[in-house]
Amino acid sequence: MTIQTTSSRRTWLKQSAVAMGAMAFAPQQIWASTVKEAQQEGRKFLYHKSTFNEFTPPKLPDLSTVNARLVWNENPHGPSKMAAKAFQKAVWDGNHYSWSSLDDLVKKIATYEGVKEEQVMMAPGSSDLLEKTALVYFQKGGNVVSADPSYMSLVSVAKAAGGAWKAIKLTPDYQHDLPAMEAAIDSDTKLVYITNPNNPTATITDTEALKSFCRRVSRKVPVFVDEAYIELSDGGLANSMVPLVAEGCNIFVSRTFSKIHGMAGLRLGYMLGKTESLNAINEITRGGMGITGPTIAAGSASMDDTEYLTSCKDKLVEARNYTTSYLTSRGFDFMPSQTNFVMFPIDMPGDTFLENIYDRKVVVRAFKFWDQDWCRVSMGTMKEMEYFKDAIDAILV
Ligand SMILES: Cc1ncc(COP(=O)(O)O)c(C=O)c1O
Repeated sequence: MTIQTTSSRRTWLKQSAVAMGAMAFAPQQIWASTVKEAQQEGRKFLYHKSTFNEFTPPKLPDLSTVNARLVWNENPHGPSKMAAKAFQKAVWDGNHYSWSSLDDLVKKIATYEGVKEEQVMMAPGSSDLLEKTALVYFQKGGNVVSADPSYMSLVSVAKAAGGAWKAIKLTPDYQHDLPAMEAAIDSDTKLVYITNPNNPTATITDTEALKSFCRRVSRKVPVFVDEAYIELSDGGLANSMVPLVAEGCNIFVSRTFSKIHGMAGLRLGYMLGKTESLNAINEITRGGMGITGPTIAAGSASMDDTEYLTSCKDKLVEARNYTTSYLTSRGFDFMPSQTNFVMFPIDMPGDTFLENIYDRKVVVRAFKFWDQDWCRVSMGTMKEMEYFKDAIDAILV
């Protein structure tokens, strides 16, 4: 754990003031606030990019009254009972800072992942790590190479901090176009960002091809691999790039407790990387200080509850098979999913589609890219997927 010195704290204050100044001129791309702003302005799209846009959703219904909450790729089954118990117990230690339990969790994660403790950085969710990395890497401009479409958290903060986005379209089979990404790297490239499996497409890039890309490219520029959904892919952790961190490659790999562990609201994530790279981020940010003690306890207990994690994966895969069989039966050409969500094209303007499906109390997302409107549906309980099916039958079929 890096303890901040007085001088590093001063540097942090100075540098973050500069970064925040730059950000004040750029739109915040945090989903909820972006949605509100777009709704108030009556804007059709949340993001205005050359090819990748998200439709502004209608006003969100009271979420406690919806029939199917299939919007944020949450795990409808979690957290594990063991995690909940550990969380409750740890509340009584809430008067203390949680450094020692965080250190214990770092040790546990290092052992689990086969890396050194100094190669682990903790945060309240992986978004925090994506954003901090972007702040540190793009303070002086530069560009980030990533897929179009892909998860925008790191890219949005990079742009807000003064960087530029080099967007590389996915291949026709929805994988990262690794040769094109490599060719796009120039002397201003500070980072390559890969989401694997990718969000919003749910698709995975070939493991061996990605490994050799990371090994080669990381000699020129660091590669950030966001593995938020890797546990849900068919091969699971066998698809992970973590072994390359252990090898000493200049890559970052981020993971979250929000998906397979069902702890999105408890906020826990980590990143593995080269010690020097993590130290550079720790120099100007607060590392794990934003994580609460109960969340640390819950995360640790959840890692032990492997039976529960397996059952979550089984149920999410069951929901995915049900949904894709349904979509096949109705002639939708969905993208092959390796996650807890599915993306499929719709023959209706995305904004009209959202109005209709929200009216049926089913909440999903709609995007426009590659001149096509798309629906992204998260996997819920089987009951929720039935509501989704009935809504699609009523609206699109
Ligand atoms: C690809 C990807 N990365 C990161 C995140 C952020 O997750 P969290 O901040 O909850 O760890 C998400 C959330 O949906 C995601 O889809």
